Amino acid sequence: GTTLASAAAGKGRYFGTAVAASHLGESAYVSTLNTEFDSVTPENEMKWDALEGTRNSFSFGSADRIVSHAQSRGMKVRGHTLVWHSQLPGWVGGLGAADLRSAMNHHITQVMQHYKGKIHSWDVVNEAFQDGGSGARRSSPFQDKLGNGFIEEAFRTARAADPGAKLCYNDYNTDGVNAKSNAVYAMVKDFKARGVPIDCVGFQSHFNSASPVPGDYRANLQRFADLGVDVQITELDIEGSGSSQATSYGTAVNACLAVARCTGITVWGVTDKYSWRSGGTPLLFDGNYHKKPAYHAVLSALGGS
Ligand code: G3I
Repeated sequence: GTTLASAAAGKGRYFGTAVAASHLGESAYVSTLNTEFDSVTPENEMKWDALEGTRNSFSFGSADRIVSHAQSRGMKVRGHTLVWHSQLPGWVGGLGAADLRSAMNHHITQVMQHYKGKIHSWDVVNEAFQDGGSGARRSSPFQDKLGNGFIEEAFRTARAADPGAKLCYNDYNTDGVNAKSNAVYAMVKDFKARGVPIDCVGFQSHFNSASPVPGDYRANLQRFADLGVDVQITELDIEGSGSSQATSYGTAVNACLAVARCTGITVWGVTDKYSWRSGGTPLLFDGNYHKKPAYHAVLSALGGS
């Protein structure tokens, strides 16, 4: 393969990117997207505040633009994300427990039914665990009012809404073996033991010098896969530049390729100039859409040239 997507396809994987609807009118952005990637994740457009800023009033326009762009070019779409403490409209936090439960289930159902058949994997719940050594759940309206069972309830509701979509739990700082990933691992193991519907775990993989690609990245992906779920690298970006950044990208891609159930990789943006890390250069294309050393390292790790 001579592109990221075609090389990854040769390895039985997809290669995706986060996309912002606001850039779909920029020709260089779109041509890079269309040439190199075969999966997209809306960067912000499927978050709760974007889709249901007012209770039971859904605005799908921006997300629909991304989905139709992807569909018309045969790209997959990852849905991101149904239940998350961030980018949550204020009205959600103001609800009492019973009302919050019904609002959560209604949101999941409405959004998933709108996109039924068009999403290959949904991040059903995002970032529900705390950082640090406690392995505890993160405080959120869902956690604080509904308790630990909210995650299970969200997955059960999601399965009923679109039985054809893979249902993922997604988080960051869970890429290596540590207290946080151990807590997620225990949850997934419990879900599989009790028949709670979960199909995949997403590893965001936002790396920088303080948090580099872990030495046990592959082993961590493998232990989750061994529970009977797919694993996906969902938001890959690596701060830095030049050959050290390229080497890290190659290491990350090789970790996925070494795990049979690692089904695809998504980088968190097309070009450095639109990265969420303002001022950073964590992606594969520079601000002029030129291929960086990191791009060539990824292509080569995927067996392309
Ligand atoms: O759309 C508004 C615009 O109208 C307003 O003028 C402007 C002023 O601040 O803000 C715009 O919204 C911003 C939005 O991105 C769209 O650009 C928000 O402020 C900004 O907070 C938001 O940041 C996003 C961030 O999630 C929010 O948590 C990033 O783009 C997005 O890349 C980032 O993605 C997250 C994943 O969803 C979950 N994992 C971590 C990852 C990186 O933080």
